[in-house]
Parts: sequence; structure tokens; C-alpha cells
Amino acid sequence: MTENPDQLRERLAADLIRARERTKLLTAVDDTELLHQHSPLMSPLVWDLAHIGNQEELWLLRDVAGRDPLLPETVDQLYDAFQHPRSTRPSLPLLEAVPSRRYVDEVRGKVLDVLERIPLHGRPLLENGFAFGMIVQHEQQHDETMLATHQLRAGEALLTAPPAPAAETLLPQEVLIPGGRFVMGTDIEPWALDNERPAHAVEVPSFFIDATPVTNADYLAFVEAGGYEDPRWWHPDGWKHVRGAGLFAPQFWTREGKSWHRRVFGRTEPLRPQQAVVHVCWYEADAYARWAGRRLPTEAEWEKAARFDPESGRSRRYPWGDDDPTPDHANLGQRHLEPADVGAYPAGRSALGVHQLIGDVWEWTSSEFAGYPGFRAWPYREYSEVFFGGGYRVLRGGSFGTDPSALRSTFRNWDHPIRRQIFSGFRTARSATPEEAHV
Ligand SMILES: [Fe+2]
Repeated sequence: MTENPDQLRERLAADLIRARERTKLLTAVDDTELLHQHSPLMSPLVWDLAHIGNQEELWLLRDVAGRDPLLPETVDQLYDAFQHPRSTRPSLPLLEAVPSRRYVDEVRGKVLDVLERIPLHGRPLLENGFAFGMIVQHEQQHDETMLATHQLRAGEALLTAPPAPAAETLLPQEVLIPGGRFVMGTDIEPWALDNERPAHAVEVPSFFIDATPVTNADYLAFVEAGGYEDPRWWHPDGWKHVRGAGLFAPQFWTREGKSWHRRVFGRTEPLRPQQAVVHVCWYEADAYARWAGRRLPTEAEWEKAARFDPESGRSRRYPWGDDDPTPDHANLGQRHLEPADVGAYPAGRSALGVHQLIGDVWEWTSSEFAGYPGFRAWPYREYSEVFFGGGYRVLRGGSFGTDPSALRSTFRNWDHPIRRQIFSGFRTARSATPEEAHV
């Protein structure tokens, strides 16, 4: 990136403002809705709101600019995600709606002043505006979490957006990714978080990966074939979970006679067959793959399919190249409130011809979340390191609810294998036979 300091400041300010417009849209609800806990899996929206402001104050006003706290310091611990699990947050003496809105506005006003004046070098935290980029990403990540809260809430629809694009493109079922080394992770993305670093070579044997994410129609075939009643397809812990929780289909699916519907942000709609399936947990993705005679891709396989350019041997920033995403490349940034049909973003395909790796749905991989060789926690252990080895599975690629400023092909998300309130889908893979690998 060749940006002068003024251009960098301008871009950081624009990203901060865009994130805040989205936060305002997601919290433009009456005070009762803002304070209500819509699901025990989620915080009340008012917690996310003040937590966004509190993290911004801690990093950009107190650390970067050396300012004093704006509120009594006892407030900080209320918004410390490690001290209070989501289910307990409604019982905390949280700031009410009006003081929360006032607090985040006050922090932001001061941050924009700091951004105008502070040198963006001299400290690792400030290099390339990293601390500001981290706060932009933090706000956008909470915005995606708040979007998931909107999907969980009962009652009439509050959000609207045009439908995601349809497609009738006929694509091959799977794509061969040739075996060999490729560079995974990054040393050069200025806003990459510690878990995406360092860049390192990985040997990946030849494999096939689905050209697109698994669709509602594909997944429905598994449901209707009795997939949820047959322990052969399930990981033993997944089978226990599916029986214990009474799962019978992806979250938000309902059946009326022979037809299936899906609840999407307060509206109930017939299933769109060619849309990428969303709201499945890792166990459901894993079971589907086994039923289909396939498996989930590893994280390294996913990243190679997304980034490897066979002509140059280089790893790209995005499947389509190094340019930032545009609306033609991928379904990102809450422009739509649902995944698109598969094949709807041909301009976003990878060098090897794999579609929709970025956007639409987070894609479960078979890999557990861990540090890359040479991992170094930065700027704080709680960002990633404390989650390593905790049984979390990695998701890749972002969803329709992920903002481009919080996503790269190296970006790693992680969650418990039972979680499905996130915008999670998947694609499947299989290892190539020696004959197939040498065509
Ligand atoms: Fe947070």
C-alpha cells in the first residue's frame, strides 16, 4: 500500500465513520429492545454498544493518547468480555441507553481529534495506523455480532435490504487444487491480527474442493435422507449434541407440510434452493460431508484454494487478486441480509476457479484454532492466544454480515463446534487419488 500519512488518516477516519454508521443502524431500536437480552447466547445490544466505546477509549484515548478515563474506572470491568460471559451481562449494572449512546459519541469525537494530530509511527501500535485499524475491526466484528442478535430476536422485522443476487450459472461440482507448497498467513497485511502471522510455507497434497459453498438444496437432501437420525454420519460428540438439543435442520428452518421455510430477520420465506446454506454448526457441516462421501477442508486447504496463484506461485490477498473487495467481488458488508445464490459472484472467483470463498457465509474448516509456527501474541494475549487449544474450530472467508475492513483471505475466525447463531456455512473437499493428482 503506498499511502501518505494524510491519505492514511483519511482512510482511517472514513473506516471509523462507516463502522459507526453501521453501529447506529443496528442500535436504532427503542430503549426496551436495546436493553433486552434476545438470546442467552448474545449480549443485550446496549452492552455491545458501550463495549465498543469502552475498547475504543482504552486503546485510542488512554493508551495511544495518554488521556484520563472519561467515566469512573469501575465501568471498565462491566465491559470486559473476559470477566462476564454473555449470559450474565443483563444482570450487570450496565449504563442505560441514553448514557451509553452519549459515551460512545464522546469517545468518538475525541478519537477523531487524536487521529488528526498523532504521528502514525514511532510505536509498533501506531505503525500504519494499526491501533485505529484494530478498533475499526473490533467495531465491525461487534456489528456482525449485533446483526446475529437481530436475526435471533422475535417480533416484526426491523432491518431491510435488497435480496442477495440470484444465479443460474452452471459450475463444475469441484475443483482440483494441485499439490505442493504455498505461503499461508501474512507478514505484510498492515491490519492483520496476531493469529494471521507469520507467513509460513505449508505443503498441501493435491485435493478437490467444492467450487461453491453447499446450498440449501444440497443440505435439504441430507435432511430428507434422514441424516439427522443416522449416527453413522456424526462425530460422537456431534451425535450427542444433535440428540440432546433436538436438532433436525439448520437453525431458523421450519417445515410446513412438504415445504421448508427459513426465518430471515423477522420474515419467514420459502427456502431459496441455490442459496448457500447458513446457520449450521460444525457438527452439522461435518456430518453432511461424511454423508456426501467427503470431508471438510483443512484450514490450509481452504487458504490455498483462496490464495494460490499457480502462474506466479504467489499467495494473493484475495481470491481475485490484490485489490480491495468491491460489490462485484463478494457479498459482504451487510448490503444484503442473506447469502447469495452460488455462482452469483463470478468476478470473485480464485485463480483456480473456486467461487465465493469470500463473503456469503463463514465456512467451517476441519482445523482446530491454534497458533502458526512462530506465533507471537500481539498486542495482547486475550486477542487470540487464550483460545488456542480450547477445542474451537476455524471458520474462514467472512459472511454477508462481515465488513471488508475486517476481512482478508488470511483472516481466521473461530467458534465452538456447537455454535450456529453465527452466519456459518461450509463447503466440502476430498483428497485426490495419485492418478487424479497427476492429470
Ligand atoms: Fe469485543
